[in-house]
Amino acid sequence: MSWNVFVTRRIPEPGLELLRNECQIEVNPHDRVLTREELLGFVKGRSGLLTLLTDKIDSAVMDATGSQLKVISNYAVGYDNIDLKEAKSRGIVVTNTPGVLTETTADLTWALIMAIARRIVEGDAFTRAGKYKAWDPLLLLGGDIFGKTLGFIGFGRIGQAVARRAKGFNMKLLVYHPKKSGVVPDFDARYVSLSDLLKESDFVSIHAPLTQETRHLIGGKELRSMKSTAYLTNTARGPIVDEAALAKALKDKWIAGAALDVYEEEPKIHPGLLDLSNVILAPHIGSASLETRTKMALIAAENLLAVLKGKEPLHRVN
Ligand code: DGY
Repeated sequence: MSWNVFVTRRIPEPGLELLRNECQIEVNPHDRVLTREELLGFVKGRSGLLTLLTDKIDSAVMDATGSQLKVISNYAVGYDNIDLKEAKSRGIVVTNTPGVLTETTADLTWALIMAIARRIVEGDAFTRAGKYKAWDPLLLLGGDIFGKTLGFIGFGRIGQAVARRAKGFNMKLLVYHPKKSGVVPDFDARYVSLSDLLKESDFVSIHAPLTQETRHLIGGKELRSMKSTAYLTNTARGPIVDEAALAKALKDKWIAGAALDVYEEEPKIHPGLLDLSNVILAPHIGSASLETRTKMALIAAENLLAVLKGKEPLHRVN
């Protein structure tokens, strides 16, 4: 057992078990994200790293690990935390965990759409505060979902899984893709420009990866162009939305509400959002079901072991 692997945060046991059977592993001993200095210290001499989206894996981390590093297995479908180019230039394989979290993240997206439109979180706080005195015709009026228009920014696996659920709500589906137009294959949906999508949608849901092109794709101008009755959900990556602009849009009622699972500078939340009742703030729990997080652990471990054994991993990203 010559392979030496570092796991940057405790993940579900079955994944660790798989690694333990074949390598020497060390797991971050703390119940928190490692500081940069700690990370740089722990990685030294490892042939594999099992990392999280909370770890910035750049050239300094690869230097600190050493030239024996063969694989960085990210415990996420997203991999914007890793410098892929740098890894490639060093011959380090980077892997991720797509597929298994698709339906779970789509479920959470729908939980957020329904919770923000029907003011569930506000209602819960209201009831707990002892304010529910009698049925009231004007209490907590929200927006309907059935029959409305749902616009997608990003239509990969997760976006499509959200769209399949939207069928049950008889929704009209619009999709933005910078290079596509016409009918969306296999879906009763059409491609439209970003400006048309924002103007026409009652719900705008973000499912794009974070890239240079998508960073701050939704800013003040875009939010201004949405319906004042519309809702925005983001279960993809925080920096796709300009959070300061969103806080202003919500405060000044340019849109009716937003439900977020991701933030520009996680775990920091823009202070302008914290006092608003028309936003739901979830702590990045899109894939957080026991079943899915366990499958992610197994896949991340399998990816890592495959590379160490000189085989092709299930999910290589570079
Ligand atoms: C991912 O996988 O990229 C999610 O953000 C966390 O599961």
